[in-house]
Amino acid sequence: MIAIASDHTGVALKKEIAALLKALDRPCLDVGTDSAESTDYPVWGYRAARLVASGECERAIVICGTGFGISLAANKVKGIRCVLCSDCYTAKLSRMHNNTNMLSLGARVVGPELAKMIVQIWLETPFEGGRHQKRLDMISAIEAGKEP
Ligand code: RB5
Repeated sequence: MIAIASDHTGVALKKEIAALLKALDRPCLDVGTDSAESTDYPVWGYRAARLVASGECERAIVICGTGFGISLAANKVKGIRCVLCSDCYTAKLSRMHNNTNMLSLGARVVGPELAKMIVQIWLETPFEGGRHQKRLDMISAIEAGKEP
């Protein structure tokens, strides 16, 4: 299950991503917002991140105006590795090397077609493991208040 969430700036793009996930046969859970009324991105980033951190959802895709604020909020949740992506290379490498479990998009930065390409690449690229796992373990150490 893929969680999707956005603030008010990302509602239209979120609908496009939901349609793409449906076409790819990937079940998705839209946790809001559904409204164009101004709202606070940390609420939505946190909701999606909690679902991933708890294991209820495998991964999540979040959207705000730049993609940055909502990724920042998501990355405060333990166990979350959320990448802000505006290009396909970062999407691919963030999976291969960083095993990202959340993807953030800027609705005011990327157009819908590029966003959908980024999503598909991010969903389909596996983690390479090996030397990269050690580095992720170091990030977990930081989360635990230790030196990496
Ligand atoms: C909302 O205007 C905007 O600040 C928000 O969507 C996001 O871009 C913040 O990082």
